[in-house]
Amino acid sequence: MQEADIIILGAGAAGMFAAIEAGRRGRRVVVIDHAKAAGEKIRISGGGRCNFTNTGIAVDRFLGRNPRFALSALRRFTAQDFIARVDAAGIAWHEKTLGQLFCDGSSKEIIALLLNDLRRAGVDLWLSCTVGEVRRDGGGRFVVETGRGPLRAGALMVATGGKSIPKMGATGLGYRLAEQFGLPVTETRPALVPFTFAEQELAWMAPLAGVAVPGRVGCGKTRFDEAILFTHRGLSGPAVLQISSYWREGEAIQVNLAPGQDVTNFLAAEKKANGRMALRTALGKLLPEKLARLVEAQAGVDKPLAEIGKPQLDEIGRRVTEWSLRPVGTEGYRTAEVTLGGVDTDALDARTMEAKGVPGLYFIGEVVDITGWLGGYNFQWAWSSGWVAGQAA
Ligand code: FDA
Repeated sequence: MQEADIIILGAGAAGMFAAIEAGRRGRRVVVIDHAKAAGEKIRISGGGRCNFTNTGIAVDRFLGRNPRFALSALRRFTAQDFIARVDAAGIAWHEKTLGQLFCDGSSKEIIALLLNDLRRAGVDLWLSCTVGEVRRDGGGRFVVETGRGPLRAGALMVATGGKSIPKMGATGLGYRLAEQFGLPVTETRPALVPFTFAEQELAWMAPLAGVAVPGRVGCGKTRFDEAILFTHRGLSGPAVLQISSYWREGEAIQVNLAPGQDVTNFLAAEKKANGRMALRTALGKLLPEKLARLVEAQAGVDKPLAEIGKPQLDEIGRRVTEWSLRPVGTEGYRTAEVTLGGVDTDALDARTMEAKGVPGLYFIGEVVDITGWLGGYNFQWAWSSGWVAGQAA
């Protein structure tokens, strides 16, 4: 029987970070992953530049049954702490918008940082290695059947992530293990995911595929001002991905294509300045041309501004700022950036991420019922939760 102090399942952001911390404390750590390479999601993240954290980390930017659970870990290992690691490794970065920090070069630099630190901390990394049965022996230690034979340790950390992008190795193993050890798992669903629409809507939306516009998307009381992107299947773009985490089946979303603009007043001013101007031309000063034409067609107004009365201008204004659309669904785990829900935080100790009823068992990263906004929040959760577990185990 091979022995270690800590077995970590999953060599993603959370698993690697926890392993580095535990290894630095002199613990014998083995990280196991069935993928060929570690940190595959880091590699593809942020369009290949990894949005590794956000300067605006705050608990109201996280979702879950009890987002405040995340506070302890987020305060003990902060965005500044991670930035210090990135700086120490000489990785150049920049702030894009909304506090989002990206590598100047490539997300591979973050993976290299983690792999270097793993090596220096003396951690064993078993890649392309299957994970079979997991059980406790008579002494309460964890035994994991692996592609390299059975491995035993006093502590087991589950860092296998969520269900999103199965093509990249997501399996849901973490949820099964939680249930095996008697921990509750809250409902899981794809989040940060594009919306799909019924054929009737797609008929007018699909021709707009590729058009992006800065807008506001809302659902219930939540709103996001960011880009909206029309796709062949429906809607995507940061504002749409953000609101998808708050949306539930059957609900409508509110779309404003010109937030902060009084469109009616704008059109009235254009009318005064040049009454012969076509409506689409005036709208084209606010919106991409294809969208301007769509609003004109949907309003059924194919005439110059001078011939459009105030009530009709009001209605056109509302068409730009008060769209109500009802998605039929989302693109699902195939493209979702994260999984909402997961291991119930009530069952975990917020300071250590250890299961309250199962000493030595830890859950970290996305497998836990803590989900961040788009913009580096999810990696910060992975770093912070991994860090606290790495200090404790
Ligand atoms: P993660 O999923 O990273 O790692 C889990 C590991 O467990 C994987 O290596 C997997 O192979 C392994 N595993 C799973 N099942 C297994 C099994 N049965 N046996 C063995 N191994 C198994 N976030 C952010 O903050 N900024 C960003 O820029 C982005 N961008 C982004 C882009 C895209 C396309 C996606 C899909 C996601 C993002 N994210 C993001 C989200 C971010 O990638 C995610 O929240 C973290 O990677 C979660 O880290 P974890 O370590 O918890 O899981």
